[in-house]
Amino acid sequence: MKRLSVIGLGLIGASCCAAIKKRTQDWTIAGYSRTEATRQQALAKGLIDQSFDSIAGVVQDADLILIAVPMGQFLSVFKDVDVARNPESVVTDAGSTKGSVIRDIGSVCDSIPSWFVPGHPIAGSEQSGVDAANPDLYVDHQVILTPDTNTAADAIRLVSSFWETQGASVSQMDAERHDEVLALTSHLPHVLAFNLVHALSDDDEHLEIFRYAAGGFRDFTRIAASDPVMWRDISLANQHAILEGIDRFAERLNQMRDAISRGDGEWIMRSFERARAARTLFSSLTDQGAHPVTETHPSVFTITEAHQGIRGTIRVPGDKSISHRSIMLGALADGVTTVDGFLEGEDAIATVQAFRDMGVQIDGPIEGRVTVHGVGCDGLKAPAAPLYMGNSGTSMRLLSGILAGQSFDSELTGDTSLSRRPMRRVSEPLARLGAVITTSEDGTPPVKITGGKSLSGCHTDMQVASAQVKSALLLAGLYADGETSVTEPAPTRDHTERMLQGFGYPVQRQGATASVVGGGRLTACHIDVPSDISSAAFFLVAASIVPGSDLTLSHVGINPTRVGILEILKLMGADIEVLNAREVGGEPVADLRVRHAPLKGINVPEALVPLAIDEFPVLFVAACCASGVTQVTGAEELRVKESDRIQSMVDGLKALGVSIEGTPDGALIQGGGPEFRFGSGTVEAYEDHRIAMAFSVAGLMSDGGVIVNDCANVATSFPNFVGLARETGFPLTVSS
Ligand code: S3P
Repeated sequence: MKRLSVIGLGLIGASCCAAIKKRTQDWTIAGYSRTEATRQQALAKGLIDQSFDSIAGVVQDADLILIAVPMGQFLSVFKDVDVARNPESVVTDAGSTKGSVIRDIGSVCDSIPSWFVPGHPIAGSEQSGVDAANPDLYVDHQVILTPDTNTAADAIRLVSSFWETQGASVSQMDAERHDEVLALTSHLPHVLAFNLVHALSDDDEHLEIFRYAAGGFRDFTRIAASDPVMWRDISLANQHAILEGIDRFAERLNQMRDAISRGDGEWIMRSFERARAARTLFSSLTDQGAHPVTETHPSVFTITEAHQGIRGTIRVPGDKSISHRSIMLGALADGVTTVDGFLEGEDAIATVQAFRDMGVQIDGPIEGRVTVHGVGCDGLKAPAAPLYMGNSGTSMRLLSGILAGQSFDSELTGDTSLSRRPMRRVSEPLARLGAVITTSEDGTPPVKITGGKSLSGCHTDMQVASAQVKSALLLAGLYADGETSVTEPAPTRDHTERMLQGFGYPVQRQGATASVVGGGRLTACHIDVPSDISSAAFFLVAASIVPGSDLTLSHVGINPTRVGILEILKLMGADIEVLNAREVGGEPVADLRVRHAPLKGINVPEALVPLAIDEFPVLFVAACCASGVTQVTGAEELRVKESDRIQSMVDGLKALGVSIEGTPDGALIQGGGPEFRFGSGTVEAYEDHRIAMAFSVAGLMSDGGVIVNDCANVATSFPNFVGLARETGFPLTVSS
């Protein structure tokens, strides 16, 4: 048994005790608090095994000592710990600022001792005290450690595992950077909330004002109910960084004041729109398990059998691939590009935010309209921080190509799913053009690009059929000397080639090879984004398998490099009519009418795989309802999408009673025919949007309903999926 000594039994310290007690038997816990009543309460609640009224007592024989006191007490507590600790024990803290802790220690010891690991759990609540102890306070939250070069590796390991046991994820950062970041994201909001409530409470009428305050006031000021001592101490401990934050904020508030006083609606609108988009991105940024559960970020779907058909006429949101590219090319163009039908999903918003971070003015999206004020090919500015791509592989890979040609250094990061995805497929061919670009050791993000390198065009024979790789190379080719050409092993979506041409940039296409010559310019244009056939796919399958269905999907993009789903479903016997085929802004578009029809199993032709690569999760569902066996081969790319989509589907479909066998490059699915019903059960979406929606479709043909966990990321590609699904007859409910 290891011995943990906790100094300070407020919310933070007591929650650690509760979390450890709940999750492991490995520790005995000794607790210290200045007040007798707190110690007694902690004992009575079973949070600690022994209580002490002195620091010298509590730290005896400790393996790990956690200091969880307000910042203002840290120095005196640390002095006592330094004297009384046994030489083997590791010491950590949970203070919200790290520079001050390190300064305090420096004043006690000559240098930062190797046994001290500064730490900060980014979790808390406006409640305080031992009563508020919460064993799950740190679950899915981040803990930042800011060790010194001198800190012992064993000590870091012990502290990391201490937090991980409590369900937190641990990362490391430089102490100064930690304080700058936290000043903006935590300390400044607290100062503002306290200040707003204080300002209003000075008003003689404050009781009257508060009586009428609604949710907005409550949400904005919730944190003003936090512990004043703790926040006074933090404000002083991180004085410098907080002052900078206040100055930045005051400047912006003054600009807003001026705009309101001169009646400048356009300025106000731009500022609010920008904030709203950044807020949306923030929701996905906190995805490390902490997506807020709301209608747009639902986390659990429950779907029961659809006794009525799937019916009506709907328009699914804009195409994700085209939306990304409209921002990228619009930003690099000369002039103002307008976009209609833009996908307001988190992935596309990540691209918008990245270009804003590089100095491009982008208005919207508001109801699908975006205006991009192009800066020209050489007009991007160095971003102040790494560019965060959320869940979006397309943003990361295509941006790698663009950034390879810039004069500045850059870094691309992403959420947990994106951080697992392979990036060498772009970094290696880009390096052959002369780019200096690195990934982590295992070829995953972050992607770091050194600017100011001159690129020279060359030819690449692509190893995988990937539109993202092809696009990254062609976009880098805009910055390369001479010709950059790419040959793909099988046709993949050609939006980059089409759209470059739409922006007046010549692209040569010969058979499987596309090429550009660097040094040209792009001219702004208008883009009409068709509906995304990848989103339409869920409804195409739903209406095909549910008896009595008759559904029309309007304005769907039917680019020949995207219609694999239509071809495959037709081979399976689906009844899909392509109506009003037309061309909108260089892309073929049509309305698709789909009616229920008995499906039959097929061997999916490998040539169609890249043309339907995103649609396989829902095609697997169609195959379960077909008569006979469906075999998918040549689809190993599915294993490196937002999740391992072969494994995700095999796991869930097996749980629902399907006879399915995963293979390295596909699956063998025994269909049950028109009478088939999925069993009832709970399946995991593994935070993969397309897996979540595919299992929602399976639920429509289930005996007893299907529960799908982890659906929050549906917002990355299809933010109004729940609404449209219900409108067409999905018996779908959402819960947290
Ligand atoms: C995309 C290409 C495809 C696809 C992704 C979007 C694009 O990825 O799966 O959703 O917009 O270029 P790969 O190029 O990795 O196949």
